[in-house]
Order: sequence, then C-alpha cells, then structure tokens
Amino acid sequence: MPTFDIESIRADFPILSRKVDGKPLSYLDNGATSQKPTAVLDAVDRFYREENANIHRGVHFLSREATDAYEESREVIKKSLNLPESHELIFVRGATEAINLVTHGLSFELVEGDEIILTIMEHHANFVPWQILAEKNGLKIHYVGLTENGELDLEEWKSKFNDRTRVASFTHISNVLGTINPVNEMVAYAKERGVKTLVDGAQSLPHGPVDLSAIGSDFYVFSGHKIYGPDGIGALCGPRDLLNAFPPYQSGGDMIVKVSIEETTFREVPERFEAGTPNISGAIGLAEAFRYMEKIDWTAARAHEHALARRATEELEALGDITIFGRSEGKAPIVSFLYKPAHPHDVGTILDTEGVAIRVGHHCAQPLMSYLKVPATARASFTFYNNDTEVDAFIMAMKKVAKYFG
Ligand SMILES: Cc1ncc(COP(=O)(O)O)c(C=O)c1O
Repeated sequence: MPTFDIESIRADFPILSRKVDGKPLSYLDNGATSQKPTAVLDAVDRFYREENANIHRGVHFLSREATDAYEESREVIKKSLNLPESHELIFVRGATEAINLVTHGLSFELVEGDEIILTIMEHHANFVPWQILAEKNGLKIHYVGLTENGELDLEEWKSKFNDRTRVASFTHISNVLGTINPVNEMVAYAKERGVKTLVDGAQSLPHGPVDLSAIGSDFYVFSGHKIYGPDGIGALCGPRDLLNAFPPYQSGGDMIVKVSIEETTFREVPERFEAGTPNISGAIGLAEAFRYMEKIDWTAARAHEHALARRATEELEALGDITIFGRSEGKAPIVSFLYKPAHPHDVGTILDTEGVAIRVGHHCAQPLMSYLKVPATARASFTFYNNDTEVDAFIMAMKKVAKYFG
C-alpha cells in the first residue's frame, strides 16, 4: 500500500542529513540530479559484493545470476512504465545518449527538405543532436515559442505541421519553466499526420509514474540519475520495428549475431544498441529506484512538492524585485527566478553559505534564455523528499541576499 510520510521518506535518503559548514543541507537542485534512497545504494552495493560478473556471455553461476538481474531490471522498468508490447527498452547512459541514438538512426531516413518541429523550451540534449542532423541532411527545424505564462504555444506548434514534417520532438516537462506539456494531445496530433514523436521524459519521471501506453509516443527517453537511480544509466523506449530498422549506433561485442571477415550481422533490439559490457549495476540500481517509487503515494507526494514550490514562490515574491519564469497552472515544482539587484551566480553563492543548494546559469537551455532575454536564472527545484524547513532556509538565505544587494 503506497504511503507518504515525509519524515520516514527523508530518512530513506542518507545524504539529506548532511551538514554544509555546520548548517543543514537544503538540497533544492533536484532538477539537475536527485539524491538516492538507501534501497538503491544497497542494491548497487549488493550487486558488487554478491553477484558481480559479466553478463550474457558466461556459463558460470555468477554470470547467469548477473544476467538474470540485469534482464529482470529491464522487465521491472518496462512494467512500471506500462511500455506497449510493440516497444522495447534499451539501456543507455541517459536522455542525452538516447536522443543521439535516435537522431543517428533517423539520419539514414530523413532527406533534404524534411522538417522537424522542436520547442524553444528544450534542453540542449533535445536541441543540439537535431541541429547537427539538420545540418548534415539538409533538414529544416521549426522552433515553437511560448505563451505569456511560459506554456508551449500549441496553436503555433500545430501550425508548423506540413507534408514535409517527419519528426516532432518535445520535452514532457521543462527543466527551467516547470511547464508540463500536454504530451498525450501532442502525440495524437502528430500521429494523425504520420509524424514521428520523441518525448524527453528527463524531468517528468522524478514526479511520479508515467504511462507510456497512454502517451503513445514513438520514443520516450529518460535518465536514471534524475529519478533517484544511479548515474550513467537511462533508457530509450521505442518501437521494435523502427529501432530494428536503424543501423547500429555503436558496434562491438554483444550486439552481433555473427562476425566474420566477409560479413557481420547484428542482433535485434535491445542488444542491437547495447554494444559492449553495459552498466549492469546501474540497470539494477535503476530498477530498484522504480521499485522504491512504486511504494510512494504520488497523489500525496505531488500535493506536497507543489505546496513547497508554491510557498517558495509566494515568499520569494514578497521580497520584491523578483521575476518568476514559468507560471503555467499545475506546473512541476520548479521555481526559476531572477532577483533583479543581483546576478544569479551571486544569489547561488550566498545561498550556498547557508547550506542551500540551488542551480544558477542557463540550465543547458540557452535558446530559452535568449527567448526570455536573460543570460541566466536561479532555479530552486523541489521534489517529494523536500520539506518546509528547507523552504524556510531558502527564504532566509534569500533575505540575506536582499540585505547585501537590495
Ligand atoms: C529536460 C531535460 N532533458 C534532457 C536532459 C539531459 O539529461 P542527461 O544529462 O542525464 O542526459 C536534462 C538534464 O538536465 C533535462 O533536464
């Protein structure tokens, strides 16, 4: 039975009780990476202590056990995501690698004059690979803008579709604005027009379960480190037939059927795109993160994290001279702001002296910064394990900033 008790949840994350220069850590940089529960740390530790062996190739006991653990991890994650039967989950390093894998595959399919639709709120990971592909193959990219409150301008987005449109790639949740895009509607619209879709789920999975059958996109990508799992592991989910038609992305061991001097043949997904020894402990840790998340009451957790972000926003604004970027109703608990008298880097540095960790800079979203006409913002990003004491510390530290600069 899923539960939500903030104190016992915080006890699951050992790092949250750390002190920074004698002050309690207030970790509000969850958009960059998340902290890990003991269950995930233990799963990785247990793998190396008890099961470590290379997978798929061994006949011995440990290798069989490690192979089973790795493949079972894939199944746990697929089930949790409600991955359609027609789709496969490929372990990769993270969202960035997953998108690069897709653009590499599509580079053999898209031809001069074909068009791609992106949005101006994309992370560089969902921007640069398309840009490189467009340059290589002579494609046109449309970048769709925002409404006043930082939502995607859906009318503009729809207006970009024409008979040369081949792909629409968009984030589920903006890492800067917190905007939650209406991905189900967007995928349906693209599908009706025969356009492939890629949804960047890097910022959505941290805030509760996602149903990939309901979303219906061709591709869905995410990173383990943002969802309470290890670094260097993530996934590309996509249709088997499409992925099997992609030429290999990396080649070597494990992804082949037969190698000879004359000819080499390749396996089907997922092995086709998992060349070499994969991140076995990472996959096991990631599956444990999914198991952990399944024990959480996400209705309560989402209400909790939203309440924290709302209070942080209100109390920030009460300081004066604050601009908030992203005011979409029901947005994710990400608060990007500018305090006019101080550069975001000064804000971040002063907050750090109070043990408050936030992110400052362009958040790997320079096109969005240009669109918003700012060089950088400060961003406090909350998740379910944050608490009111951390919001208090954040606001207290912002008052210190105001004292220096106000
Ligand atoms: C929306 C979004 N997409 C993609 C990424 C890239 O993730 P990674 O660096 O784990 O590949 C991030 C990371 O911040 C992100 O926020």
